[in-house]
Amino acid sequence: MSRFLRTPWRSRSAARAVDSASLATGVALVRALAAFDSETAEHSAAVALYSRDVALHLGADGDSAAAIQLGALVHDVGKLALPAELLLKAEPLDEDECALVREHPEAGARIVSGLPSSHTLLAIVRHHHERVDGRGYPHGLRGSEIPAAARIVGACDAYAAMTQHRPYRASVTPDDAIAELRRNADAQFDAEVVAALVWVLDRGDEDYRLARAARFTAEHQHAELAERAEAPRHAAAS
Ligand SMILES: [Fe+2]
Repeated sequence: MSRFLRTPWRSRSAARAVDSASLATGVALVRALAAFDSETAEHSAAVALYSRDVALHLGADGDSAAAIQLGALVHDVGKLALPAELLLKAEPLDEDECALVREHPEAGARIVSGLPSSHTLLAIVRHHHERVDGRGYPHGLRGSEIPAAARIVGACDAYAAMTQHRPYRASVTPDDAIAELRRNADAQFDAEVVAALVWVLDRGDEDYRLARAARFTAEHQHAELAERAEAPRHAAAS
């Protein structure tokens, strides 16, 4: 049995579906981020789909996986609190600028903290840059101290960032990105999450591995999550 089945996020978030209020707010936040920084928003949609699929493979129920999907869509919402010129800067950041960027998880947590489905959202938004060796931020949590949902999003975030093509930087191939994740398993990333992500990627086609399919858009995922949020509670629990 996967140890993820015993993690707190599953039992707590299973008790509350992605509710309509959290989803509507999440959608508004994603749109605000897209208007401010379309690359981050587009990237987040890829992270969301991979994170949902990894969560399902690790044994999460449909509601928990949907909560993780929504959390991954908004995981970088704290970037709205950064100065625009910093976020869009093409050159390497200096030390002070890096310190500012490292504040985005806590800024994001403040933004989503009042939402009804905030438990999983908060865990993801606040902790997606933690590392299992304790060298991440903002809290330097180690291993299983990091919420499982945040460990899932952290690995999917890294994979999607590496493989996303940008005019100003070369992307790496899915195989090279997977090799990099494996090299950093048990240091930066949770080894079980990396194995699950590799399993999921192995079963997808090239469009899936490069996040090019239509279902990778944020709008497509909003519609999918809305169906779940509006479904009767007993039907949503599958
Ligand atoms: Fe981030």
